[in-house]
Amino acid sequence: MDRIAITGGAPLVGAIPVSGAKNSALKLMAAALLTDQPLRLKNMPRLADTRFLGKLLERLGARVVEMEGRGGPETIIHAAELTSSFAPYDLVRQMRASFNVLGPLIARTGHAKVSLPGGCTIGARPVDLHLRSLEALGAHIDLHEGYVYATAARGLKGARIAFPVVSVGATEHAMLAAVLADGETVLENAAREPEIGDLADCLNAMGAKVEGAGTPTVTITGVSKLKGATHAVIPDRIEAGTFAVAAAMAGGEVTLTGLRPGLLDALAAKLREAGATVRDEGDTVSISRNGARLQAVELTTEPFPGFATDLQAQFMALMTLADGESVIRETIFENRFLHAPELARLGADISVSGGEARVRGVGALHGAPVMATDLRASVSLVIAGLAAQGETVVNRVYHLDRGFERLEEKLNNCGATVRRLRGGGSAEAD
Ligand code: EPZ
Repeated sequence: MDRIAITGGAPLVGAIPVSGAKNSALKLMAAALLTDQPLRLKNMPRLADTRFLGKLLERLGARVVEMEGRGGPETIIHAAELTSSFAPYDLVRQMRASFNVLGPLIARTGHAKVSLPGGCTIGARPVDLHLRSLEALGAHIDLHEGYVYATAARGLKGARIAFPVVSVGATEHAMLAAVLADGETVLENAAREPEIGDLADCLNAMGAKVEGAGTPTVTITGVSKLKGATHAVIPDRIEAGTFAVAAAMAGGEVTLTGLRPGLLDALAAKLREAGATVRDEGDTVSISRNGARLQAVELTTEPFPGFATDLQAQFMALMTLADGESVIRETIFENRFLHAPELARLGADISVSGGEARVRGVGALHGAPVMATDLRASVSLVIAGLAAQGETVVNRVYHLDRGFERLEEKLNNCGATVRRLRGGGSAEAD
C-alpha cells in the first residue's frame, strides 16, 4: 500500500489549477442514468472515487468513456439501456456516493435493489432522509438484509418534502428522483451547497425543470423524459480550500486558478482572521503569508454558506502553529476529529471533548509517521507535514487518491517535496 513522504520547511510558491469537484462529479455521474442519451461531463476530476462509480454504472448497463477533451478531462456516460437495477454491498460499502444510483434507477426503471451504505469513520451517516424522500415521491421501500428494495411501478409523483436537517446527499437524491416524477416537488430546508446548483444546472441542461437550487426551497417540475447534455463540473472548493490552507501554513504565495466566485468565502474570512492574506479575484484566488505568525481563531462547521466540515481537519492543522488557543466545533459529523491524535504525533497540542477541539498553538511541528483515517484527515496530515521540521510519512494514501487529483505534482510544482513511496505500510482496509 502506497505512502506519502513530505519533507517539510519549504514555502509554497506558484499556481495550482483547481480540478472539478469530486462531490459534484459523483452526483452528475448518477444523473446520467436518468436518460438513454449520452451525458458528457467536462472538467471531470480523475479520482479513485469517480473511477469506482464509473465501474458501478457500467455494471448497471451504461457505457462510460474517459477521454482528454480540448479543455481537459471529460467523461461520457451513455445509459442507452439499463441491464440491471442492482447495486451490491461491495460497491456501495466502498463508496457511499454509490447509494445515489437508487433514485435515478427507480425514476428510470421503476425498481431498484441497492445496498445500504453503512457508517464510516467520520460518523454513522444514516440515509433515512434519502429513503423518506423517495417514499414521499411514491416509491415503496422495503429494507431486507442490508438492502433497499424500492419499487414505483406506476412512476414517481411530485411531493412536498421538508427536511428536518440540512442534508446535501438527501437534497441531491430527492432532485435526482423528482426530475422524472409526475407533477411538482418542493424541497424545503434544502442544502445550499454549490454542488446542488451544479446538479440543478446539469439536470436543466438535460431538459429538467429545477428552480431555486442554492436557496432553501428547490422546486422541481417533473418531465416525462430527459435528454443528453454537455456540462462542465464545478471547481472543487474543498481541493482549492485545502491548497489555500497549505499556503497559509507553509508560507509563500499560491494562486489558485480555475475557480468561480463565492466558493471560498467562509474559508477566506477565517484565513484572513488568522493573519493570511487572501486576494480574491473570483476565478483566481491568491493566498500568501510572509513571515508573520498565525493567530488562533474560533470556528464552527456549518452547512454552506458556513465553514465546510470538509475543510475542518485542514484548518485544525493550520491552528496547530497559531499563536494562542483556537476552538473548533464540528456540528455536521459526530466523529470527525480522528486527525487530532495524528496531528499530536507531529507535536500538536489538541484536546477533544465531544464535538469541540481546543488547539493550543506550538512553536514547531516535527515530522513523524502518521496514519490517515479519511480523505480530509489524510490531507490535513500532508499540510501539517509541509510545515513540520523533517520528514512526515502518511500511511494509507488510498484515502487521498479518492479525492485529490495529482496532489504530489500540484504541491511539488510550488516547491514542496512530496514523494510517493510505493508499497509498504499497513494493509488494513476501512
Ligand atoms: C456530503 O456528504 C459530502 N459527500 C461530504 O463530503 C460532506 O462532508 C457532506 O456532504 C457535508 O457537506 C459527498 O457529497 C459524496 P449530509 P453527505 O447528508 O451528503 C445527517 C468528503 O470528505 N444525515 O449533508 O453524506 C448526516 O449524518 C465527504 O468529501 C442524516 O441524519 O452529508 C450528517 O450528520 C465526507 N440522515 C448531516 O445529516 C440522512 O439521511 C449532514 O450530512 C442524511 C444525512
